[in-house]
Amino acid sequence: MGSSRNDSYWKPRGKSKVSYKKWQRASIKQIESDVRKQLSSKPQRLAHSISVARTSERLACLYGVDPYLARVAGLLHDWDKVVPNDELVARAKKLKIDVGVPLGSAMPLLHGMVAARELPKRYPKLPKEVWHAIGCHTSAAKDMGPLDMVLFVADGIEPLRRPSKGIQETRDMVGKAPLEDVFWNAFVGGIVYVLQGGRYLLPRTIDIYNSLARERARRGRS
Ligand SMILES: [Fe+2]
Ligand SMILES: [Fe+2]
Repeated sequence: MGSSRNDSYWKPRGKSKVSYKKWQRASIKQIESDVRKQLSSKPQRLAHSISVARTSERLACLYGVDPYLARVAGLLHDWDKVVPNDELVARAKKLKIDVGVPLGSAMPLLHGMVAARELPKRYPKLPKEVWHAIGCHTSAAKDMGPLDMVLFVADGIEPLRRPSKGIQETRDMVGKAPLEDVFWNAFVGGIVYVLQGGRYLLPRTIDIYNSLARERARRGRS
């Protein structure tokens, strides 16, 4: 992996420098322990989740977002990655999740959407921003808030992800560019990756792209 001048901004190494309150430390410890159990059959997914949580926390500190919410959103974002596809579709159907196409065509999105609707029962004290971020961590959304952007970017650039040109480009923007531009780079890079691989692009993603692109143009950011 190539290194850049600002590697230290986002590389989650060693102990967290964030000073949390006692209840926040206890909550993070509990949630991390739950995630370790939930993802125990998929060690790489578990390592990714812990890495996303650290990256998310660092990005939050850099961009003035609540690091506790970023950390727990990172820990929980792939909670349902261990659920078999047919069960995930059945659960999404039961939750009346609508993605505008048959649920089977939107498999990569469902684990976030299902977790965002089911996990609040298990963690009632976590605020709705956490569930919104988890619900749109794969697809993005028309109403991306700062926590949503932090989680989305962290998922894409966490250091265990194999670097590609696009990922490195996003990593290099961290700490130099505004959060919304870092997010935009990661989001568009993801779409380009899907297109270059000749994969199916959900109509919903095109809608989200157009909506966000219009908003960026309105704000003079395109
Ligand atoms: Fe995910
Ligand atoms: Fe992930």
